[in-house]
Amino acid sequence: MSNLFNVYSLWDIEPIRAEGCKVWDKNGTEYLDFYGGHAVISIGHTHPHYVKTIENQIEKIGFYSNSVQNSLQHELADKLAEQSDYTDYALFLCNSGAEAVENSLKLAAFYTGKKRVIAFRESFHGRTSGAVAITDNPAIQSPFNTGHEVTFVPLNDIDAVNHELEKNDVTAVIIEGIQGVAGIIVPEKEFLKQLEATCNKHNVPLILDEIQSGYGRTGKFFAHQHASVKADIITMAKGMGNGFPIGGVLISPAFEAKKGMLGTTFGGSHLSCAAGIAVLDVLKEEKLIENAAKMGEYLKNELSKIEQLDEIRGEGLMLGFALSPEYAAVQNKLLFESKIFTGSAKGNVMRLLPPLSVTKNEIDIFISEFKKQIEKL
Ligand SMILES: Cc1ncc(COP(=O)(O)O)c(C=O)c1O
Repeated sequence: MSNLFNVYSLWDIEPIRAEGCKVWDKNGTEYLDFYGGHAVISIGHTHPHYVKTIENQIEKIGFYSNSVQNSLQHELADKLAEQSDYTDYALFLCNSGAEAVENSLKLAAFYTGKKRVIAFRESFHGRTSGAVAITDNPAIQSPFNTGHEVTFVPLNDIDAVNHELEKNDVTAVIIEGIQGVAGIIVPEKEFLKQLEATCNKHNVPLILDEIQSGYGRTGKFFAHQHASVKADIITMAKGMGNGFPIGGVLISPAFEAKKGMLGTTFGGSHLSCAAGIAVLDVLKEEKLIENAAKMGEYLKNELSKIEQLDEIRGEGLMLGFALSPEYAAVQNKLLFESKIFTGSAKGNVMRLLPPLSVTKNEIDIFISEFKKQIEKL
């Protein structure tokens, strides 16, 4: 019995090696990865360019501190600006999704001088104090987290948002590009446009949480770009480092930086920047965002032919569908019999989040195994 604090439900599988869209456990069994370690693996496991870049960097210098020049941070910011099309936004680097969210909330509140946050029902934004307070799940909030002023409104309900904004005490509106934990719920495009307009009108920062839906996963750099809207602040993590812990906040030029207003010891380290740059280089070089769009469409189309499934939700390679109770066991069957990892979400939803490098052949294997398992139930 070891001393790990026992907070996770674990599958009894121990991956020890991985490559592209495949993972091998300690017994040598091969798995297909349609979970991407929870939407984290973007360019594929152990991509050779990524591995080499990290190796080369750690041989030179892995870390110093944010009190010295680090040109890797500039290279990462420039490449991110170019690929995300947020060319005039500034980048703050941190270490995780929750930390990105926490900093985005602080930034908005420094700007507005106000406190109350508008978030959406069924939202998930992380586990730290502010992030979990704006997460619509009381079961994971402790009394320590409940002092924040937060109002949850229904997704796609612009009247509810307007009603709150008119009270003139709101510091930010935060929304996920696509709600992941809630079960892959895509905000309506028209709603996102109205949300952008009303936030602009009230001069309240609109924060787009793209931690799960960003970095090309949906076939555009950020999911909200499908609706052609622009956010004031964008949070990123997961796919940004392909497994290396790195998070970031993209910040509109309307926000003025002041020394010390945000900070972190590890954020922006040489090693994390090297990982982040390698991810952006591979995304571009191998056209993985285009691949996510193309393969996502193919996967969605193949899933839509399976009569046991109703609506297939999501964009690109962030897809989900509800399983009726008689098919609830399919996820475990896929994992333990077909050797395919998939994700789950609220409401008996199966979440598919493969690496953006997934191939048509790998999708065909998934579809054929999925059909086989669902027909057996
Ligand atoms: C939309 C969203 N925001 C924030 C987070 C928190 O990220 P992290 O677990 O890196 O703190 C997650 C993680 O699942 C997420 O999906």
